[in-house]
Amino acid sequence: MKVVPWVVGNWKMNPPQAQIVQWIEQLNSELKQDLINEQECILGVAPTALALQSMQSQTYDRPILTVAQDVSQFDGTGAYTGEISAHLLKDSHINNVIIGHSERRTYFNEDGTILCKKIQNALQNGLTVIYCVGETLQEREQGIAEQVILQQICDVASVIEQAQWQHIVIAYEPVWAIGTGKTASVEDAQSMHQHIRTAVRQITTAADTMPILYGGSVKPENAEQFAACPDINGALVGGASLNAGSFYQIAKAFAKVKV
Ligand code: PGA
Repeated sequence: MKVVPWVVGNWKMNPPQAQIVQWIEQLNSELKQDLINEQECILGVAPTALALQSMQSQTYDRPILTVAQDVSQFDGTGAYTGEISAHLLKDSHINNVIIGHSERRTYFNEDGTILCKKIQNALQNGLTVIYCVGETLQEREQGIAEQVILQQICDVASVIEQAQWQHIVIAYEPVWAIGTGKTASVEDAQSMHQHIRTAVRQITTAADTMPILYGGSVKPENAEQFAACPDINGALVGGASLNAGSFYQIAKAFAKVKV
């Protein structure tokens, strides 16, 4: 079954506001020259929390999803200094969120228990979740990469109701490939994506239409080879997405192959 690919830019703690304005102008000018439509590729950008609302209210030459990089484990409103709940994201028309990025797991000690709360809150508020999984280099070298990924999926599967699976996108991001310039080989990436789909198929029929994104040093030069893999339905792009031209070219690579 054809899955419309997703290309999502994860801007992490970047960039200053002035550069965001330029980025949007450049992306719009690329799209004007050669439009990538929604049927070809879903596009999204995850800016810092500070820029979520301004990006959400921008006019683009086609729909671009605004994606939060994180969400609180606490929901609703209340005395949680510094936090943004799924309820408040939804209230601000932010309908998508990244959960479980390896930087959150590593630097903020987010474990399965916390990630379950975040996913549950996000889904209950009607958000779509991009759930990140990935093994460390040590785990890959030990030959346990597939087990680790399976565990990370099992960690949260119990809080996802059947009907909610259609609001889940999985991003496979080997930790050792994030921001390092190294990527998984195309064969390893395809094989892991297939493994993920097979695992999710045991849980839900939505597995066959679930976008599974690859992440980790994706750039215009290597996007086409990932796009050519049957189980890779898009990319979560860090560094390269900060350049609107590169982001556009990566999207173009996925749009071209999948149509
Ligand atoms: P990268 O980051 O493209 O800079 O490797 C990917 C990510 O962390 O989502």
